[in-house]
Amino acid sequence: MEISVKNINLETVKSPCLVVGISDKRKLTDSAAQLDNIAKGFISNILRRGDISGATGDALMLHDVPGITAERVLLVGCGKNDELTHKSFQSIITNASSTLSKANIKNAVFSLSDLDSKTLSHTMQLRLATEALQQNAYVFSLLKKDAQPSLAKVTLHIADKRAAVMKKAKLAVQIGNAIGVGRNTARDLGNLPGNICTPTYLASQAGQYDKSYSKLKTTILNQKDMEKLGMGSLLSVARGSRTPPKLIVMEYNGGKKSDRPYVLVGKGVTFDSGGISIKPGAAMDEMKFDMCGAASVMGTMVTVNELKLPINVVAIVPSVENMPDGAATKPGDIVTSMSGQTIEILNTDAEGRLILCDALTYSEKFNPKAVIDVATLTGACVIALGSHPAGLLSNQQKLADQILAAGTESGDRAWQLPLWDDYQDQLKSNFADMANIGGREAGTVTAACFLSRFTKKLHWAHLDIAGIAWYGGDKKGASGRPVPLLTQYLLDRCGKQYSV
Ligand code: BES
Ligand code: MN
Ligand code: ZN
Repeated sequence: MEISVKNINLETVKSPCLVVGISDKRKLTDSAAQLDNIAKGFISNILRRGDISGATGDALMLHDVPGITAERVLLVGCGKNDELTHKSFQSIITNASSTLSKANIKNAVFSLSDLDSKTLSHTMQLRLATEALQQNAYVFSLLKKDAQPSLAKVTLHIADKRAAVMKKAKLAVQIGNAIGVGRNTARDLGNLPGNICTPTYLASQAGQYDKSYSKLKTTILNQKDMEKLGMGSLLSVARGSRTPPKLIVMEYNGGKKSDRPYVLVGKGVTFDSGGISIKPGAAMDEMKFDMCGAASVMGTMVTVNELKLPINVVAIVPSVENMPDGAATKPGDIVTSMSGQTIEILNTDAEGRLILCDALTYSEKFNPKAVIDVATLTGACVIALGSHPAGLLSNQQKLADQILAAGTESGDRAWQLPLWDDYQDQLKSNFADMANIGGREAGTVTAACFLSRFTKKLHWAHLDIAGIAWYGGDKKGASGRPVPLLTQYLLDRCGKQYSV
């Protein structure tokens, strides 16, 4: 979808539809009042008759509004201004775009980013509107020929035409578009099935991005390369699979050569059957989404490249398929990780941490400012937090605070869990330096405790996205989260000129 921002004359604009907001209790927003003026009270008359109250979710299409050249006016309920949140704003935009799509309208002018709110600036409203429109435009069309949503082009109107305001507005829409592209990239990768989206496929996609973006360098490490590096833990997960493992390294150079990079590590298990500790059959198909951490860091790299951010960012994706087989790792097997620490694999279904630990050790070579890993790591995280925030654990509170702030700013939130030493005992093994599982209690914390043993030299944070990476039910599909959070975290590291 093509989205741009402009100062538009609402009276003379030729468009199939102008979209304006009505606040709760039939209050006109600024642009609705402006239209009402031009139309000599036409809109306020309709409000008085009670056809629309202004509650979020309301929509009313008007035809032949006098005095204006646009063919239609869509009034959209915006609720109470002081109750505006990221979520309610997104649903206002979604309500508008689905009403337009149902009416088969191809392009429209939106004037919905002028809501008075303490939490969302007008420029943030522009960015969120762009993100939401790009989200709504997404269809998984790679393998299924669905009807496309009809809305194809949206112009976002802003009333203030001062150059400085317009510059900020343009940046906000540019960021929104870049997050949209990155997030939809992540959704496509996530939605592709395990027989197509293999480690080799992910590696070839990373190679494609390398071709499209001049500041990006992609390197693929094969099984032999990983053997040489001593990645015995990562490789142990791939043993039962007929498809080879890959370690994908994407280096984005937007800063000075000497700038230490931010490293993102994404779990890329392209299918998680559980291995010999095989999972029950119900909903096992959803384990194709076990590479959504990888998809989100790859999507974020696309966003970063689109925005040409002035920093250095490295994405590392350890990718394997976890399958049972005669050669597969068995419960009780002991492997040696790249760090030299030995691991007793008591459960082959706790495989994410086994690939991440070697990727985290590998990340040390970049001398990173901070490392964030993103993984659909534990079912326990879904039990603890449900499907709203990602679980966050970190060995440095400053980094945790920055990530929490990025979550709040972007509306793609995380919630911190404790990474206390008290939990470390649960990983004791009689035969190796540690076990790969910590028992029933606090499964998300013990998984992070396991990873913390490989990140002692790093400022590191872990995002458990098991609850947020995909939607269930009839909306089943990858969400593309946490691309907005990761992008926001990186934008916040780029200085004031990138804040909207
Ligand atoms: N990929 C799963 C985690 C998962 C399960 C994410 C369900 C989303 C929905 C992970 O590899 C796994 O199997 N974890 C085990 C760990 C356990 C064996 C300690 C789990 O959560 O059951
Ligand atoms: Mn598993
Ligand atoms: Zn898994």
